[in-house]
Amino acid sequence: MLWSLLFITLIGRSTHQDRGCSPGWETIKLDDKVAFQSSVYTASGVKYTADRALDGDNTTCSDTLNGHISWWTVDLLGLYEISCITIYNINQFNIDLRGARILIGNSSERNAADTTECTRISTTTKGENKTFNCKNGPKWGRYVTVYKNTSGLVILCEVTMKGRNKEPFKLIKENKTWADALYHCREEHMDLVSILDKETQGWVGLEAQKADTPFVWLGLLYSCTLDLWFWVDDHCVGFDQWAPDETRTADCSMSAAMNTSGNHLWYKKSVYDKYNFICAE
Ligand SMILES: *[C@@H]1O[C@H](CO)[C@@H](O)[C@H](O)[C@H]1NC(C)=O
Ligand SMILES: *[C@@H]1O[C@H](CO)[C@@H](O)[C@H](O)[C@H]1NC(C)=O
Ligand SMILES: *[C@@H]1O[C@H](CO)[C@@H](O)[C@H](O)[C@H]1NC(C)=O
Ligand SMILES: *[C@@H]1O[C@H](CO)[C@@H](O)[C@H](O)[C@H]1NC(C)=O
Ligand SMILES: *[C@@H]1O[C@H](CO)[C@@H](O)[C@H](O)[C@H]1NC(C)=O
Ligand SMILES: *[C@@H]1O[C@H](CO)[C@@H](O)[C@H](O)[C@H]1NC(C)=O
Repeated sequence: MLWSLLFITLIGRSTHQDRGCSPGWETIKLDDKVAFQSSVYTASGVKYTADRALDGDNTTCSDTLNGHISWWTVDLLGLYEISCITIYNINQFNIDLRGARILIGNSSERNAADTTECTRISTTTKGENKTFNCKNGPKWGRYVTVYKNTSGLVILCEVTMKGRNKEPFKLIKENKTWADALYHCREEHMDLVSILDKETQGWVGLEAQKADTPFVWLGLLYSCTLDLWFWVDDHCVGFDQWAPDETRTADCSMSAAMNTSGNHLWYKKSVYDKYNFICAE
């Protein structure tokens, strides 16, 4: 009798208990990140926009319109390893996230090949913090989405998450000539970044946006004796992102720099110009 009572108490606890996040993960700062959602509910002049879920105020909520598919996404503006997501909602009749999925991915296109499921929400989220750990361990990505493919709203009053930044690239906000930039990276046991594919171009472009010069140096140098461009870590140039008016041939003492805005196209620049630069592991 006593044992069965104890058993019931334990079961009750373990199913209702908020298990919390596994220890050792940092809270990701979200108030400087960008959130968007499938639609925006408006009432009495108040727009229930996506950023209200990240504003640190648990009384302001984001809210979508009722649709067959509703979602909310935050762009973390970098690559993160995400361990868990905590959702808080006020106690309101039309809040029900059961069946919704938490997705983590590298593209803002939900259901794309580079998006993976963190977990599925199976409990109500009303009136208290509910923490969802990613199934089978932390997941890597840039976008975190709450995705509901059944009718009903996606309402989120506060979202927080734990994880760590896994940026393989490091923007150095110092103005240096190309050779000094390379020297700086190598002193830190890295190299000036090589961009060998579209995916890397995307991550490096994201980092370049934070620079305070109009261009950032890449590890791409022109050899006028050989009449070719080469990556300083010895990779050949396959993928490229030259601006349309940049010819492939150059004068001596030229290196490639990425435009820090727009589509982050590459330009030939004198190695004596001084720019911020990006080191890579
Ligand atoms: C996102 O990109 C990183 C780095 O390329 C990769 O390790 C990770 O698996 C990707 N995430 C998904 C969900 O595809
Ligand atoms: C909501 O915010 C208030 C004021 O900051 C705080 O006292 C309360 O603990 C918060 N509730 C939850 C569940 O985090
Ligand atoms: C809910 O989570 C938020 C963010 O992690 C935290 O600031 C707040 O104190 C938590 N509230 C309670 C009641 O645990
Ligand atoms: C909705 O999502 C669930 C998983 O949460 C999936 O099993 C189901 O097939 C989806 N339905 C539609 C119509 O996409
Ligand atoms: C680098 O140059 C930019 C202008 O191109 C300037 O705004 C910035 O303050 C400089 N940074 C340093 C650390 O000198
Ligand atoms: C860099 O990109 C921006 C945005 O596309 C563009 O306005 C600017 O002209 C570019 N810089 C150069 C030198 O072409």
